[in-house]
Amino acid sequence: MKTGLILGTTLLLLASSASAAIRALPNGAEADQGPARVRVTALSDEILRVRFARDGRWSEDASWAVPADVRARKVAVTPTADGFSTGTVTVRIDPQTLGLTLFDRQGRLISQDLGQGARFDGASFTLRKAMPIGEHIWGMGDKTGSLDRRGGTFVNWNTDAFGFSPGQDPIYKSIPFYIADGGTGGAYGLFLDNTFRTAFDFGHKRENEIEISAPDGPADYYLIAGPTVRDVVRRYTDLTGKAPLAPLWSLGYQQSRYSYMSDAEVRQIAARFKQERFPLDLIWLDIDYQDRNRPFTVNRTTFPDMAKLNADMNRDGIRLVAITDLHIAHLPNQGYAPYDSGAAGNNFVHDATGKTYVAPVWPGPSVFPDFTRKASRDWWGTLYRQFAGYGFAGFWNDMNEPAVFETPTKTMPLDNVHRIESDDFAPRDALHTEIHNVFGMQNTRGTFDGLKKLRPNERPFVMTRASYAGGQRYAVTWTGDNSSTWDHLRLAVQQQISLGLSGFGYSGADVGGFAGGPSPDLLTRWFEFATFMPIFRDHSAVNTPRVEPWLDGPRHLAIRKRFVEERYRLMPYFYTVAEENARTGDPIMRPLFYDYPDMLKTSCDTQMSFTVGRDLLVAGPAHPESPQLFDVCLPQGRWFDYWSGLPVTGNKLTFVPDLERLPVYVRAGAIVPRQPLVQSTMERPSGALQLDVYPGEDCRGELYLDDGLTTNGASLRQSFRCAVTPAGLTLDLGKRSGGYRPWWTAVDVAVHGWTGGASVRGRTASVDAAAQTLRFSLPASARASRVEIARR
Ligand code: GLC
Repeated sequence: MKTGLILGTTLLLLASSASAAIRALPNGAEADQGPARVRVTALSDEILRVRFARDGRWSEDASWAVPADVRARKVAVTPTADGFSTGTVTVRIDPQTLGLTLFDRQGRLISQDLGQGARFDGASFTLRKAMPIGEHIWGMGDKTGSLDRRGGTFVNWNTDAFGFSPGQDPIYKSIPFYIADGGTGGAYGLFLDNTFRTAFDFGHKRENEIEISAPDGPADYYLIAGPTVRDVVRRYTDLTGKAPLAPLWSLGYQQSRYSYMSDAEVRQIAARFKQERFPLDLIWLDIDYQDRNRPFTVNRTTFPDMAKLNADMNRDGIRLVAITDLHIAHLPNQGYAPYDSGAAGNNFVHDATGKTYVAPVWPGPSVFPDFTRKASRDWWGTLYRQFAGYGFAGFWNDMNEPAVFETPTKTMPLDNVHRIESDDFAPRDALHTEIHNVFGMQNTRGTFDGLKKLRPNERPFVMTRASYAGGQRYAVTWTGDNSSTWDHLRLAVQQQISLGLSGFGYSGADVGGFAGGPSPDLLTRWFEFATFMPIFRDHSAVNTPRVEPWLDGPRHLAIRKRFVEERYRLMPYFYTVAEENARTGDPIMRPLFYDYPDMLKTSCDTQMSFTVGRDLLVAGPAHPESPQLFDVCLPQGRWFDYWSGLPVTGNKLTFVPDLERLPVYVRAGAIVPRQPLVQSTMERPSGALQLDVYPGEDCRGELYLDDGLTTNGASLRQSFRCAVTPAGLTLDLGKRSGGYRPWWTAVDVAVHGWTGGASVRGRTASVDAAAQTLRFSLPASARASRVEIARR
């Protein structure tokens, strides 16, 4: 096998092979080379964990990202001469270098180390992997730049990046996970479970080579085999956790602004939405509601009765979310309970000398909860008691990189001391260099767990700015302080797709941009795209032009409203896709290639295209600010125009950009559930469930519903299928499972692309010839039923 090697290398191989025997383990293999040691174990047939011991010592087997019970999973493997095989992959360990090569069972290469399996230099280490020509790199969470990371270089260091530029790195989150797509053995994922300031270079330094480096911490990573990107994403979320199904209302339209200054102003905003009949589910309260920016206080002059405000808003179908930043005001002996109770329990981070670390943020001098202690997270969770009592629906954890003012580093000193007393970590002190990137995630964990204790049956809703891999278990996220530019609209699409591939199913970007002030066209376009994105929140900075939907006059308002209304009509589909995300890890908002790999080779500029679930495809102009013609390329197969319901001819279309229109398509073969328009998800839809049937191959649809709020309530699930028959079409409505009582008693079916007459169950049915749509109604039933539709 090694005959081509030069003599010197051969000698070295022979000399070392005695000491580098590969030891079989029931679930993997281990090998040494000098003082270095590698252990590769299989958690499943497709998920391998790779750990290195430097100087013969293993790093601690503990993790913020991968829960202990997941790390404990194992499957039996078959030993081979130089490694082992699982049911789906073969691992070879080069005894000389400890480098790994991963193949599928057909011998096709999945991933290959270059040189040593890991190169250590003091506390730091480097990994190098081959990146074949043509391989795309996805993931890395919330990064700027283009979706394909190939050619880029990235650092993981959570950073308060106000007004970040479209190429700035790092920004708010650290998710050291990428997917390499296009190798002969299919896609694979790599997750480096190391919280330090790691760096990933995808062929920037050296062509066709991935270099991963860490200044410190464990050389501990997971290799996730595909072969598809979908397989990798599902398995990555098996490892780091699925984003739990969020409350239904979080999919509604959300209005926010940094500077809703009073109870009266919030009521005015709500009243205007009502007057315009513009659907709205949430209003966000930013720091302005607080007393001197002190977390967990309320300015009683401007917000005299929070409980009443919440109750009154709820009566109008609106919920409130409040910001609760982590920095507790440093106010010893002034009767400020969050400080006093925190200090009493020794819950704040220390500086290098052992004193409580104090630094300026919004409230002025502040202290910082030691979220890596379970006891401190538990204490933090108790701070929500009063606010949960006011009736706030959810909470916003901002500034948790953590952001610190008046320092060039924008964060705390690297030698600050955190205490780790959590999970299966051995209790110890850790420097900020190690904790920085998980600080925000542990902040949201404290909030999530605290809310679960306070409202045990409700799904907690937490939104965070900073996080780490696995943070999707506790919070949804948004992309921070973006700007009101067309580039940022483009960037938002890329960032949110990337977050979805990196475990964060729910993401949003400030619609309209946080900094600056959008032109009317930009804001309208942003509304159009956000209609199809997971979190749809209009938010803007203090002292910028206001961006509530009505501010640019009736024409813009009408377009924005039309899109938001469409979002509400699509709610059953959206919620079904969200539930699928919680169960499988498949993102809500997906790159086209997720379900349609042929789109990797498209000739169109698809940077403003994505799908919602598998069946809805948004194909926005790549440059909506330009009057130039643009092309839309659709995946192989047949498609329908979402808006007209008409079948599309051909897979490449050309359009003149039109502010009124965003091209959206439906897969032929989709059955999409929709509902009558409501003004908020709190309103019970009145009328029938709508089923839009788009006949084609693999014709099916799903519906999931529950009360939208609780964790253990009843649910409802129903599948639909259709098949084109010689006589016409058969539609199968599956048996409804689950005990949730739906709001509908009838189902209105629309079959698109229908030409000629029709009879349904033997009775003549009405066909709108121009719209090529056949419509009929059925009484809703929990039992399975079949509808035969015949051509006439
Ligand atoms: C940060 C947040 C922003 C918020 C502001 C005030 O800049 O990113 O969304 O409005 O703080 O709380």
